[in-house]
Amino acid sequence: MTAIRGYVAPTTESGALGVHSLDEFVLAVPDASVARDFYGSFGLDVAAKGKTLALRTFGHDHRWGSVVEGGKAKALHHLSFGCYAEDLPPLKARIEGNGVKLIDPPPGFESNGFWFRNPEGVLIEVKVAPKVTPDRKSESQWVSAPAGVAGTAIRAKQPPVRPRRLSHVLTFTADVSASIIFYERNLGLRLSDRASDLVAFMHGIHGSDHHILALVKSSAPGFHHCSWEVASVNEIGLGAMCMADKGWTRGWGLGRHVLGSNYFHYVRDPWGSFSEYSCDIDYIPKDERWPSGDHKPEDSFYLWGPDVPPEFTINYEGGEG
Ligand SMILES: [Fe+2]
Repeated sequence: MTAIRGYVAPTTESGALGVHSLDEFVLAVPDASVARDFYGSFGLDVAAKGKTLALRTFGHDHRWGSVVEGGKAKALHHLSFGCYAEDLPPLKARIEGNGVKLIDPPPGFESNGFWFRNPEGVLIEVKVAPKVTPDRKSESQWVSAPAGVAGTAIRAKQPPVRPRRLSHVLTFTADVSASIIFYERNLGLRLSDRASDLVAFMHGIHGSDHHILALVKSSAPGFHHCSWEVASVNEIGLGAMCMADKGWTRGWGLGRHVLGSNYFHYVRDPWGSFSEYSCDIDYIPKDERWPSGDHKPEDSFYLWGPDVPPEFTINYEGGEG
């Protein structure tokens, strides 16, 4: 581990100001019906209102994502972060004080919050919303059948895999270090870990997964993947198999990450980005300092798993591929 670059230490621990959750991600795609098929197959509760889709998880009221129809190619429309009501005015004042210009909300997304763009043009909202990032580490299921009992039902009787919640989103950026500083200074996110200037993982200060927002180096901004928590490694495998059965065969997994420690399988979506089945990601409790590190890329991408497909890091939004 080497020195951490681009890290801005907060001045005080108590009274630190920051968003608590990644409330929602929004994509724009050319054909919403394609998105409905993909995310429905993935195990999400997809509701259509006109040509806009709401992405929920079964048994949870929160809208974790939206898909709007428009444009010739998939694009990240915006990211929305949630904060406590008392934190909205000081967050707004801090962001304006940092010289960030506030702008009008896009049509259909008016809220109690405020809007701005990061230096690369990514549209961001901060609003008052319930904390949907969990307050403690999610429980994973590691069930072993006792002797004399079969551990699994036959394949036809397996229930469909249904993710429990959104964990994080990973976006491309042309400047990982500058993005870390931007999100620290404006949203109060903190660096969890990074690998040189290639990738960085950021968490919320009020208790969150190891990362609610991750950043990966590219030539331009863009959406790389959304990550959905499932209950077990078994569900990761089942989900991947069910998606393959429906024709969604491309992706990467099964494997285990080093930074965040989660088990994963990524399914390539219709637009060249990915949806991740994830389990047992590290958790950073409120008011605890995570020992952030700057790790060697070759040592920190994944602990085990298949070779990374070349298409995994292509930013189709940025004109690559
Ligand atoms: Fe991920």
